[in-house]
Amino acid sequence: MYELIKRDGMAKRGRLTTVHGTIETPVFMNVGTAAAIKGGVSTDDLRQIKTQVELSNTYHLHVRPGDEVVKKLGGLHKFMNWDKPILTDSGGFQVFSLASLRKIKEEGVHFNSHIDGRKIFMGPEQSMQIQSNLASTIAMAFDECPSSVADKKYMANSVARTTRWLKRCKDEMARLNALPDTINPQQMLFGINQGGIYEDIRIEHAQQISELDLDGYAVGGLAVGESHEEMYRILDEVVPHLPTNKPTYLMGVGTPANILEAVDRGVDFFDCVYPSRNGRHGHVYTNHGKMNLFNAKYELDDRPIEEGCGCPACRSYSRAYIRHLLKAKEMLGMRLCVLHNLYFYNTMMEEIRDAIDAGEYKAYKKRKLEGMEQK
Ligand code: GUN
Ligand code: ZN
Repeated sequence: MYELIKRDGMAKRGRLTTVHGTIETPVFMNVGTAAAIKGGVSTDDLRQIKTQVELSNTYHLHVRPGDEVVKKLGGLHKFMNWDKPILTDSGGFQVFSLASLRKIKEEGVHFNSHIDGRKIFMGPEQSMQIQSNLASTIAMAFDECPSSVADKKYMANSVARTTRWLKRCKDEMARLNALPDTINPQQMLFGINQGGIYEDIRIEHAQQISELDLDGYAVGGLAVGESHEEMYRILDEVVPHLPTNKPTYLMGVGTPANILEAVDRGVDFFDCVYPSRNGRHGHVYTNHGKMNLFNAKYELDDRPIEEGCGCPACRSYSRAYIRHLLKAKEMLGMRLCVLHNLYFYNTMMEEIRDAIDAGEYKAYKKRKLEGMEQK
């Protein structure tokens, strides 16, 4: 159940109640594609860095270790020792970005696994069955994420098929949730809006999927090569056509600035690999911009990454030490940078929620953006 607690302009402050606990929004979901946050981050770590929701991928877990294996071990929560909410992406996007030799048909997609080349078929029913075996809190609908440069005719046909697939997802989830051996019979389903850069297709699609009374609505097919301005324009157009009494999720986004702008346009769920991926490369976020800890200027710098930061890296270690670890290829170096970055994102979301609660979101956004532009 989603409760819209407060609005500040278009910004939404919400609360999603799930069988695995409540999610305060706006929220950033921490990405653990294969049931682990890359960089050696444990679920104990996640509890320390204010993680509310973990996100994993249907496609990866289906290929390895196999969703049947995860089901036999009691579902994803038990498997990875995480009792808070988990969202699983449907496999749609990953099939389109990772797999080879894809063939899209009305029934679903035939493709070869990126691990061992094995032939796999995934359609709406298969995606829902896999996500039901994984027993995530929130399942995503199986969609096609067409290239952002797809022509309008292709896009219109693709989006119509994604709508038909969504109805099949909804029916299949209802069937699965009623089966006696389903681990999470209260699994939620979010639909995904597509349409590339064509706002008429996007708006019509948003109106159609809104009628299906799903648990939440995502905007997909963005941050795939279009400019930031174009992404903001599409959000300006499409978000007003999605229900405000349901979560609004912008998939795969983004930088802190992208998140600040999208919140201002009514988005309240986010996920992105940036904080973990950048952390693994020694790039860390601060309120004064991004730092590259490999830089020679940190050789003798005994300050934490960010003064006042409460993360496990900043509470105990200096820039100089973490730089040394990174250069010596010690695993701890990467791990500390990833922990700092996720803590930075999760803390920013906390500030965003406080600012909306106080009715000061615009002023907060301006201050935060100006600070991060300093360097
Ligand atoms: N992750 C980022 N973008 C997308 C999208 O368009 N669809 C899905 N399923 N996942 C995504
Ligand atoms: Zn820190």
